[in-house]
Amino acid sequence: MPTTAISARIRPERAVDQPLSVETRLPLRPYGRENDWLLIMQHLAPLLASSYPGGAQWLSRRLDDIGEGRARAQLVEVSGQLRGVAIETPKASNQIKLSTLWLAPSLRGCGFGHELLQACTSRWRADGVPLAWITASSTALKAVGGLVTQHGFDLTACERDRYGIGRDEWVFQWTPDRGTSPVGPRARHGW
Ligand SMILES: CC(C)(COP(=O)(O)OP(=O)(O)OC[C@H]1O[C@@H](n2cnc3c(N)ncnc32)[C@H](O)[C@@H]1OP(=O)(O)O)[C@@H](O)C(=O)NCCC(=O)NCCS
Repeated sequence: MPTTAISARIRPERAVDQPLSVETRLPLRPYGRENDWLLIMQHLAPLLASSYPGGAQWLSRRLDDIGEGRARAQLVEVSGQLRGVAIETPKASNQIKLSTLWLAPSLRGCGFGHELLQACTSRWRADGVPLAWITASSTALKAVGGLVTQHGFDLTACERDRYGIGRDEWVFQWTPDRGTSPVGPRARHGW
């Protein structure tokens, strides 16, 4: 997306979610600052555009939803750079879709993914969320699946050719009754 198009979409500051109560090493904060729309679009739109048809447009709409209170996000920002994000979309019956879970490559492999996801699941528990889910492309399957299955998610489906021939999408569901101890995801699901 051209810079001018992004600049034109900078949103005013809005009421934001309360900060998460979970302690993390990550500098986590809720979406809501004036330049957050731009910050996320700059970092994530190219990735989503390459991963999903219409991915950049989807992200733009989702950020608008956050601004309107129909979704929410937690950001990891370091020195003005976006280093991570978790976008949640509330669904019917208090269910949640974890629409986006992303950490910058420079932060990966240090346990920060665990912290980011635990911040989400802790709040879901506190909020009485009965069901949450996340999907992963085949490209992100190992990283996302390896992480989320350690936090109470189970692989429940694979939508074959969801975004084109060979572009499968894997579905992981979370329920609060599932434990959070490591469960050996790769061994269990055989990927
Ligand atoms: C998924 C992601 C957030 C994990 O972050 P991370 O900081 O690397 O995760 P952690 O260091 O906390 O590791 C957590 C677990 O993830 C799993 N994992 C992470 N990367 C993995 C990989 N490349 N292969 C297999 N497992 C992996 C491991 O099971 C690990 O558990 P362990 O510490 O017991 O080995 C990160 O890899 C990422 O952002 N990937 C891109 C996802 C994406 O494309 N998002 C945009 C579309 S929604």
